[in-house]
Amino acid sequence: MTALLRIEGLRVEFGDGDAPLVAVDGAGLSVAPGEVVGLIGESGSGKSLTCRSVMRLVPRPGRIAAGEIEFDGRDVLAMSAQELRDFRAHDAGMIYQDPFSSLNPVYRIRDQIAETLRVNLGVGKADARAQAVELLDGVGIRDPERRALSYPHELSGGMRQRVMIALATASRPRLLLADEPTTALDVTTQAQILALLLRLRAERAMAVLLVSHDFGVIAQVCDRVVVMYAGHVVETGPLAALYTNAQHPYTRALLESVPELESAGRRTRRPGIAGVPPELTEVLPGCVFKPRCRHAQPGCEAISMALEPVSEGHETACPVRPFAGTGSAPTARAGAQR
Ligand SMILES: Nc1ncnc2c1ncn2[C@@H]1O[C@H](COP(=O)(O)OP(=O)(O)O)[C@@H](O)[C@H]1O
Ligand SMILES: [Mg+2]
Repeated sequence: MTALLRIEGLRVEFGDGDAPLVAVDGAGLSVAPGEVVGLIGESGSGKSLTCRSVMRLVPRPGRIAAGEIEFDGRDVLAMSAQELRDFRAHDAGMIYQDPFSSLNPVYRIRDQIAETLRVNLGVGKADARAQAVELLDGVGIRDPERRALSYPHELSGGMRQRVMIALATASRPRLLLADEPTTALDVTTQAQILALLLRLRAERAMAVLLVSHDFGVIAQVCDRVVVMYAGHVVETGPLAALYTNAQHPYTRALLESVPELESAGRRTRRPGIAGVPPELTEVLPGCVFKPRCRHAQPGCEAISMALEPVSEGHETACPVRPFAGTGSAPTARAGAQR
């Protein structure tokens, strides 16, 4: 099947052209129609910039310096201003990481949704207000007529996120980019938002690229997973393959840091991954994860970070393969969360 979204060799830079700071370095991924793909990695890995690149909304002075982005066979990086407006209005929706950056505090919810419908889809004012209420109903907001008249600060975090989803999916896009849509929410609300995304996906055959730093979230909803570290995709594969047979030490470390769910719905955080990701100014030869890797070997500073196949659809950037043949799940409990 041809991909709905295909990213290849994406490079996003900051700083000046002679000595650029490389925030995304040769990243690639694809999303099939109707598929839910998880994009996971610690803070600073380049997840948000990768999503923003698809929308051609990399914040200045950042820029896309190389790579290909194709949506349904169309070259996103070659689109004219008008084509881009149409693309953002109809084809791809995005939920941005900071909910406050996207909901305007001084307008009622109804009016913000109506304005989006008017601008993006050319809906008349009265119709747009009526449709806004329907959209709120569609994302599971109870008593939508009354809620439509609220201001953003009058809504809970979960309800604000539902409004963001209503806005991002108002035009029934075939792709939703959801950047950490549940990060600020408690576990129960988080599960409700994930369930909503799955329902929209099923009702509309909408594909989702779901960004998270939490494998527990990814495991609940994703078909496939893409793992990013320091601007590179280090491993990718079907969810089950990564859960039971992760081949990159970074993926293993992420799995081991999955918070355990407790009966009361509270989460205890397991110890995170030792060390910190590199600064953008730090250019590491070979494997970027080497300084934090328990399995590092002398040859690691000479590797290319290119993905090599492990099995059908499963690829890793670690040529050392410290886990080859073990086939064991790093965290047996984690698999039970699905
Ligand atoms: N406006 C900016 N100016 C300079 N550096 C930035 C800017 N935005 C992001 N970066 C850098 O790019 C890297 C990747 O950022 P981002 O894509 O937001 O990561 P993630 O979403 O995985 O946390 C980070 O190291 C961050 O410091
Ligand atoms: Mg981010």
